[in-house]
Amino acid sequence: MFFKYLALASLVILYILMFIGGYLESSGQGLACPQWPLCPSGFVPSGPYVTEWVHRFIAATTGVMIIATAVGAWRVAGSHKRLRITGTLAGIFAVSQIGLGAIVINTQLKAIIVAIHNGIGILLFAMTLLTAIYAFKLQHGQTIKTNA
Ligand code: HEM
Repeated sequence: MFFKYLALASLVILYILMFIGGYLESSGQGLACPQWPLCPSGFVPSGPYVTEWVHRFIAATTGVMIIATAVGAWRVAGSHKRLRITGTLAGIFAVSQIGLGAIVINTQLKAIIVAIHNGIGILLFAMTLLTAIYAFKLQHGQTIKTNA
């Protein structure tokens, strides 16, 4: 089933994106691209812009994949409420996170904005992880209900 692999791929690429985001910050390259949405080098990664270019490029790719997963959560056969909720929340967090990325740059890495960027990233990861788990359970015909 294509859907569960899309959900898993979204999770893996999101993890890579968050890893690169952490590197971006700790290496002090957060303002290497002072413009939004493109770096001064445009669509081509080069020189001092590479890390930030990669973060933005993977963010755009991740956003598309997570939104596609959210759409799939509503359309896949046998879908259920929890899968739809986590998939939709992941889509909302992904779009917010990309918008927030612009604010991170425009406020020149204002601490509270970077902290919110990190915090929404964690919520996004949690929702994407749950969506992937539910997608795999769906494939195996398991019930999603817990004992709670
Ligand atoms: C789904 C999309 C995104 C995710 C999950 C994400 C995640 C992250 C994470 C986890 C960090 C590390 C923060 C920390 O360690 O406190 C980070 C840093 C950063 N992100 Fe993103 N990000 C996304 C999109 C973007 C976009 C579109 C931009 C646009 C410019 C952006 C700009 C930055 C910058 C500049 C930093 C470094 C901040 C600093 O140096 O203080 N992010 N990101």
